[in-house]
Order: sequence, then C-alpha cells, then structure tokens
Amino acid sequence: MMALAGLLLLSVAVAASSGPSWEPVSRLRPAAENRRQEGAVRELLERLLGPRAASAFSVSVNRSLAGPGGLDTYRLSSGGRPGMVEVDGSSGVAAAAGVYRYLKDFCGCHVSWSGSQLRLPERLPPVPAEIVVTSPNRFRFYQNVCTQSYSYVWWNWDRWEREIDWMALHGINMALAFTGQEAIWQRVYLSLGLNQSEIDEYFTGPAFLAWNRMGNLHTWAGPLPLSWHLKQLYLQYRILERMRTLGMLTVLPAFSGHIPRGILRVFPRINVTRLGSWSHFDCTFSCAYLLSPEDPMFQVIGTLFLKELIKEFGTDHVYSADTFNEMRPLSSDPDYLSKVSAAVFRSMTGADPSALWLMQGWLFQHQPDFWQPAQVRALLQGVPLGRMVVLDLFAESKPVYSWTESFYGQPFIWCMLHNFGGNHGLFGTVDSINQGPFRARAFLNSTMVGIGLTPEGIEQNDVIYELMTDLGWCKEPVNLQQWVAAYAMQRYGTTNAQATEAWQRLLHSVYNCSGICVNHNHSPLVHRPSLRMNMELWYNQSEVYEAWRLLLSSAKELGTSSTFAYDLVDVTRQAMQQLVSDYYQDIKQAFQSHSLSRLLTTGGVLVYDLLPELDNLLSSDQRFLLGHWLEAARAIATSDREAELYDLNARNQLTLWGPSGNILDYANKQFGGLVLDYYGVRWSLFVSTLVECLNTGTPFHQNQFNQAVFQVERGFIYNGKRYPAKATGNTLEIVAKIFLKYYPSARKRGHWRSM
Ligand SMILES: *[C@@H]1O[C@H](CO)[C@@H](O)[C@H](O)[C@H]1NC(C)=O
Ligand SMILES: *[C@@H]1O[C@H](CO)[C@@H](O)[C@H](O)[C@H]1NC(C)=O
Ligand SMILES: *[C@@H]1O[C@H](CO)[C@@H](O)[C@H](O)[C@H]1NC(C)=O
Ligand SMILES: *[C@@H]1O[C@H](CO)[C@@H](O)[C@H](O)[C@H]1NC(C)=O
Ligand SMILES: *[C@@H]1O[C@H](CO)[C@@H](O)[C@H](O)[C@H]1NC(C)=O
Ligand SMILES: *[C@@H]1O[C@H](CO)[C@@H](O)[C@H](O)[C@H]1NC(C)=O
Repeated sequence: MMALAGLLLLSVAVAASSGPSWEPVSRLRPAAENRRQEGAVRELLERLLGPRAASAFSVSVNRSLAGPGGLDTYRLSSGGRPGMVEVDGSSGVAAAAGVYRYLKDFCGCHVSWSGSQLRLPERLPPVPAEIVVTSPNRFRFYQNVCTQSYSYVWWNWDRWEREIDWMALHGINMALAFTGQEAIWQRVYLSLGLNQSEIDEYFTGPAFLAWNRMGNLHTWAGPLPLSWHLKQLYLQYRILERMRTLGMLTVLPAFSGHIPRGILRVFPRINVTRLGSWSHFDCTFSCAYLLSPEDPMFQVIGTLFLKELIKEFGTDHVYSADTFNEMRPLSSDPDYLSKVSAAVFRSMTGADPSALWLMQGWLFQHQPDFWQPAQVRALLQGVPLGRMVVLDLFAESKPVYSWTESFYGQPFIWCMLHNFGGNHGLFGTVDSINQGPFRARAFLNSTMVGIGLTPEGIEQNDVIYELMTDLGWCKEPVNLQQWVAAYAMQRYGTTNAQATEAWQRLLHSVYNCSGICVNHNHSPLVHRPSLRMNMELWYNQSEVYEAWRLLLSSAKELGTSSTFAYDLVDVTRQAMQQLVSDYYQDIKQAFQSHSLSRLLTTGGVLVYDLLPELDNLLSSDQRFLLGHWLEAARAIATSDREAELYDLNARNQLTLWGPSGNILDYANKQFGGLVLDYYGVRWSLFVSTLVECLNTGTPFHQNQFNQAVFQVERGFIYNGKRYPAKATGNTLEIVAKIFLKYYPSARKRGHWRSM
C-alpha cells in the first residue's frame, strides 16, 4: 500500500499558456470565499467519515496556492498536530481531491457510484514527505447533457448530494447545472404571450428533456406538471449552492435558437426556419423551429431567458447551448453558420458581458460530411477567440481537435464519453484514455484547457471513471498494470491475489478496446431478436469467464464487501450476456438446419433457465433493480396521474424510446424485472415463433415477428406491475449455482469473434 503512495508523487508545473485566447478562461474562478470552501470540504468529510473526520484532517483553502493560470493544487502533509493530516487546496475541490488521494494511497479506500470502501486504519498513517500536486488541467469537467435524462432524472437531494461529493473527491471543478430550467422557460414563454397549452405541447416528459433542450424533440411523453417545476427548482437551488461552495464552476443553459410553435402565433412576422426530423422521429415530435439569427427576436428571447435565469440562480459566467446537435443546418454557407453562433453568443453577452460559451463538439464528428473544415471554422469563429470552450466530446475514439487545427484556436476540453444510453456492459478503451489527453496537449498549437467525463449515463464501469479522474492530476500516462492492482486493493480494502488477477484480465480484454469503439451494448440479450443479430466483439470472452471464476473464488475472503458484491454481479452478468449470444447462435443454427429437437433444447435453456437465472441474479442486488428506477420516478409524483406519467416515461426510455420503438432499446439496461418481463418475454416469443415455423414448414418473417413483438414490448410498458425496490435472494448462492451450471461449457466455448 505504501509503495503506491509514491505512484503519483509528482509536482507538476505547467507553463501558463499565453495569448489572448486564454484570458477569459483563466479569469474564471469560483465565487465562494476560501473560508466557505473550507467549510464545505469539512462537511463533506464528515458525511464521508463521520465524527472522526474533524480530528483526522485539517483542511484549508487558499486560492494563492493555485499554479499558473489558476491550475488547481493540493498539498498533503503531517507535521502540525500529531495523528492529523493537513490538506491545503487552492479550492474546495482541490482540497477534496487531496483528501481522496490520501485516502486511496495511504489508507486503501475507494469511493464510487456503486459504493464506498472506507475502512480506515486505527491510526491514520503519516505523510512522510510533503506531497504537492498541481493539475495540468485548468478544467476537470463532468456531465453530458444526456446524463440529465438517462441517470439524474428521478434523483432527490440525497442522491444529488452523494453525486456532488463524488465529484469533489474526484476533482471535478466544472459541471453542468441544468436542473429546473423549464420552470424559467415557462415563465419567459408566458411573459412573451404564450398560453399554457402551447407550453404544455412543447415540453417533453421528464425522461426526454435532454433532447427537448437541444431542439431534437418536443411533446413526447409530456406535459410537465406544475409540481415538477417546483421540485426541480428546489433541487437546483441546493445543487448550485453545494457545487459553488465546494469551488466548482456551474454551467447554466442558454438560448440556442429553438422555439415552441406558439411563438409563431404571438409573433407571426418573425423569421423562422424549420429543421428536419431528428433520428427516427417524424414532425409530430421533432422538426424544431429555429429563429433566424438576424431576427431581432433572437436577442430578445435569448437575453430575456438568461437574465431571468441569472436573477434566479446567480452565475459563474459559463453557459451551454447547442443549436445543431445531430441536426443538419439548412445552409452550409459559412457566413450563415457564423451568424448563428454570433447570435447565440450575443444573446449571452446581452445578459452577462463576461459570458463564456461551452459548446458540445459532438455535431462535428456526428455529421462529418456536412461539417467540413470551412463549416467548422465558420461556426467556431463566429465567437471571439477564447470566449468559447468546445467539448471534444468523444475524444477517446473520434477526436475532433486533430483535424480542426485544435478547433481553430478556440480552447477545448478533451472528453471521454465512454457510455451511451447508460447501458450496462463492461467496456473501456484504457489505452486510448491513458494516452489521449497527453497527446492532445502535445499537439501542435494545442488549445486544450482540460479533461472531461461526458458519459450519457453513469452508474456503470466505475473502473474507467476512476482511471480518468486520476489522470486529471497526472502529467503523463500511468502504468495500467500497477494502477489496476491498486484499484482492486482499494475497492475491496485488501489485496487478494485472485481479485487482482481478475482485474488484470478484464483490463487487458473487455476494457481494452482499440480503434473506433462505441460502447453501445449490442448484445443480442438486450435487442429485438432476429436471425441477423450483431455478434461482433472486441475482446476474448474467455478472459471474462476466467475473471468470473477468479472473483468467485475470492468471495470467501471478500464476500462481505459491497463493492465486491457489485463486481461479482456485474462480471457474472457479463458472462451471462456472453452465454446468451452463444445460445442465440445455437438457436439460429438449429432453426437453419431444421432441427426441431435442438431448437427446443437450446431455446428451452435460454428462455426457461438462463434468462430467469440472470433475472434472479440482478434482483439480488439493489443496484440492478428495475423497481429502483421505477419507484424513484413514482416517488416524486404528487398524484396518481403524475405517478402514471412518470412510470410511462421511465419504462419507455429503457425500451421503446418513443411511441413506436423509434430508438428501440437504445437505453437498454440489465435490471432485475426487466430481463424477465421484457427481454425474456421477447426471446420466448422468438423461440416459439421459430418452433412454429419448423412445425408448419413456413419461413420466418421478420416483419410479421416485429409486429407481434411490438405488442409484447408495449405490453411491458403498460403491464401495471409494481416491481420491488428492495433486493431479494443471496447473491453469492445465486452466482455459485449459475457458475456450477454454466461455467464448464462456457469455458469450452469461450472464443473470440473478432470484429
Ligand atoms: C495564502 O497563501 C499566501 C501565499 O502563500 C499567503 O501569503 C497568505 O497569507 C495565505 N492566506 C491565508 C489566509 O492563509
Ligand atoms: C392557447 O391558444 C390557442 C391558439 O389560440 C388556443 O387554441 C388554445 O385554446 C389556448 N389555450 C388556452 C389554455 O388558453
Ligand atoms: C430569414 O432568415 C434567413 C436566414 O436564417 C435569411 O436568409 C433570410 O433572408 C431571412 N428572411 C427575411 C425576410 O429577412
Ligand atoms: C502554430 O502556431 C504558429 C505560431 O503562432 C504558426 O506560425 C503556425 O502556423 C501554427 N501551426 C498550425 C498548424 O496552425
Ligand atoms: C490493448 O491491446 C493492444 C493490442 O490491441 C495491446 O498492444 C495493448 O498492450 C493492450 N493494452 C492493455 C492495457 O492490455
Ligand atoms: C483467450 O483467453 C484464454 C484464457 O486466458 C486463452 O487461453 C486463449 O489463448 C485466448 N485466446 C486468444 C485468441 O487470445
């Protein structure tokens, strides 16, 4: 454990980037005074460690500790009072990150979404020599606009509080604060003369607001009840207050040019265009109205909204807006594109002269045929250099900075997206994230100002986020082999040879995707069955089976740890997901070779044993329950009608994603309850349809099957069932039973279907 303390022993001095484009960025700083930030960190430590915190840590925040250009710095030492660790930070976040570094490296602790491991030694080990670390990154950013809908949508303050603690400990110093914005929009629209029904038809339901905010979607699964707005406002006050006192910069939403249809009634002469449909939706729910950048109402609405928002919430001067996210502009004329971004920016400065625009760079890599260098340059340079920060959102797989001369001089943040739709599924691109930020910084004329985490959904693959947040404080890549061994030790609170080996095998296989890797779980398990399912894999499945065996064999020693229990469920789940693919393959072969008996046997095992066992497994852990998600949605309703609306939102997002399966299974989850009643019923229909085809000598018609299975999918959404929000069953016994049944054949079959 002690050897690890040296691992990150670096004091990084980074030359301040000079030039006018950095001035606005380095001017930004948290508004809370040092003393308030100190207090916020002390309270965090008390939530984390209980009463012991006060006698164990002496925390101080002093802004003058910051490195050149405002780079966050922490200092750890022992020496003042005996038995006490002194932590100084240039901000609350820096101090919190320093404490977490100490807890990890000196005490073998760990804090993650799936749980914490905080067994402290009786006496805290002293810090032998002062440790000073300066982050090479001005910003360590977190959140994707989609995370708001895929993960946070039903959260109460308790859950938010835990998240903000996690953010501080992991060094996040800038994040979105998007909660409650619809309440302000509603106020603005009413004051402009829209009536309530025009507003109601515009907003989507809670689980789809991320796409309403980007102009992708309207109306679907809405409207928003009044109580929703009130509760979200309350949350937003608390979120902002906590983030700011910890020294984080909050990013507020701004106007991107999209307007509700009702505006056209009130202002019939305004110049609007209508964008095309988004994704697989038609204009019933998409095709946003976009105000012309030259129409005076653009400034009126944009500035009115932002002034109202700032009046309500205050500001840290950073604003987010996305006009063309996944939507093709009507003209590729560079002059037009510059006018749009200039108009968005002007509507910000109209309310806040020091505004800085944080923009997602997703569009550039999403429609590269449209966004040629001239178009990218025009959009970016419609805003003065340095007043926009671009999130290179998917930089670990498809970096944009590299083909845009570093965003043509606008500062950018190297972001790891990692996750789509909040899917479960082990996945990672460890080599790319371990190298990428350093390459981006060394790039010719690099304008990189930070690193970021931009997952669409969280509460999955803790290991990848721990790595990325550690890298936020490093000036060079880490030794992954050593890093993962330390991770296993901290996560379980002890070194266990089998667990370490399990993690090493996972690191080298399922977590080591290289090339263009998209973590969208395409396992047949979670997709609508057909005879042409995607079976591509980027790793050697046997390594996961081996990791499964190793973790199970360490259960005697580690079985009482809750982070271990999570990993045991998760790795077993991954092994079973692999097995489902094998059974699918068998089913397909049996059907194609007209072998009814083989079809009945393999189909029977899949439908009557493997999937129910997977459901049992997931149902044995609180963190994998459908009921947890659904009951959280119901809990914020203030009437039965609202509860039904939220329940529909919650179920639809996981499954059909739209009224007719528009983005079917995009946000799939492996939850106890969902596996049996949704994926399981679907597989059962598939197998029985194939059996029927063989019995009657008729071919399988995918179209007919799709129609039938759609009824099953819809049926799940409206099944009226309540699912338990409490786990049942003994995880270890369930895993042992599944292992006994399936490991021997899995091991024989484990092979690698490479891409
Ligand atoms: C903060 O640090 C600066 C520079 O080291 C020092 O001059 C100042 O006294 C410190 N402030 C407090 C309140 O300790
Ligand atoms: C809002 O205005 C529209 C269009 O004039 C009208 O059809 C609708 O009834 C109005 N709704 C309310 C609640 O006034
Ligand atoms: C409306 O806006 C478009 C650009 O968005 C512009 O090309 C056009 O000239 C404008 N029309 C009028 C009548 O101002
Ligand atoms: C990098 O910056 C230098 C100095 O500002 C400039 O001369 C050069 O053209 C830039 N290179 C690229 C590829 O932008
Ligand atoms: C990941 O795989 C590549 C080969 O594709 C290999 O060169 C690299 O060492 C692996 N990295 C890890 C951490 O296992
Ligand atoms: C896959 O992993 C297994 C287990 O470690 C190993 O025996 C096998 O050689 C690997 N296969 C390939 C193709 O690398």
